[in-house]
Amino acid sequence: MDFAKEVQAKTEAINELIEGFLPEEEKYPAKVIEAMNYSIRGGGKRIRPMLMHETAELFGGAGVAVEYFMAAIEMIHTYSLVHDDLPCMDDDEYRRGRKTTHAVYGEAIATLAGDALLNYAAETALGAFDSDCDKYLVGKAVRILFNKSGIYGMIGGQTADIVSEGLKSEEITAELIEYIHLKKTAALIEASMMVGGILAGADKVQINALEKIGRNVGIAFQIQDDILDVTGNFEELGKPVGSDEKNHKVTYVSLHGLDKAKADVEALSKEATVLLHTMEGDNPFLEQLLLSMIDRKK
Ligand code: IPE
Ligand code: IPE
Ligand code: MG
Ligand code: MG
Ligand code: MG
Repeated sequence: MDFAKEVQAKTEAINELIEGFLPEEEKYPAKVIEAMNYSIRGGGKRIRPMLMHETAELFGGAGVAVEYFMAAIEMIHTYSLVHDDLPCMDDDEYRRGRKTTHAVYGEAIATLAGDALLNYAAETALGAFDSDCDKYLVGKAVRILFNKSGIYGMIGGQTADIVSEGLKSEEITAELIEYIHLKKTAALIEASMMVGGILAGADKVQINALEKIGRNVGIAFQIQDDILDVTGNFEELGKPVGSDEKNHKVTYVSLHGLDKAKADVEALSKEATVLLHTMEGDNPFLEQLLLSMIDRKK
């Protein structure tokens, strides 16, 4: 099977898996549950659960336990997008090829749907305690997942991103941009790979290496996102281009220029594969997946 077909097949399998975890739209909270399911079913690349699954496979697989976490991390990622698109944040009307959650359900329900996805992610991840996986490993994975999504991770990065809109240009440094990228985006990619490794029994040294690989991939991923905000097109991306400029955001592209941005995506992705080779196991699909970040168009 060629790589693109393999990605498609794996994405479909992940969609099916996530579908099995979605709540029923019933009774008085039906509206918020509808909005949660709308935002999750919008699709998306499912890159985080895919990285988690493939990293677990690198260490021999993690059975059913990893499935709870694959669904949970996609719920957390999706909530971050629902909130990121709100009028008080990036104020965007399209996501994953359709109207954003607040555009369909209103701001109040979209805010609640984001909160609900985060809460439901915790309930879902904790379901892994019902699996055969070692309870200590499940606990460790829960801790990483929520540490990397919180104030020391994604929420911390989103905060710095919003605060940066009000800074003077001389206050916007390469260091600040790197912090924003590391936290708002790389943290969840690090968590994806670390949780996959933890549940499959990887040791401390290997988990540290996975964190580094995730960091490289995650920073490359956000630089490419900044590039596509300038060079991409709506049909492929499923979200508006020019959102960063509209919001006066400093991005990797506005600070360093397109050429350096592109070169750095390539260098960071290749470095990630070099680190991957230092691991004992072998997963050629995972290596290709990391390299596919270099020229992704969506
Ligand atoms: C978009 O994430 C937000 C960033 C962190 C760059 P993705 O590009 O993974 O979005 P989906 O899940 O495919 O829609
Ligand atoms: C958001 O970064 C990253 C998140 C944690 C949601 P962006 O604001 O650049 O993401 P897009 O471009 O709207 O997907
Ligand atoms: Mg944003
Ligand atoms: Mg945005
Ligand atoms: Mg963006």
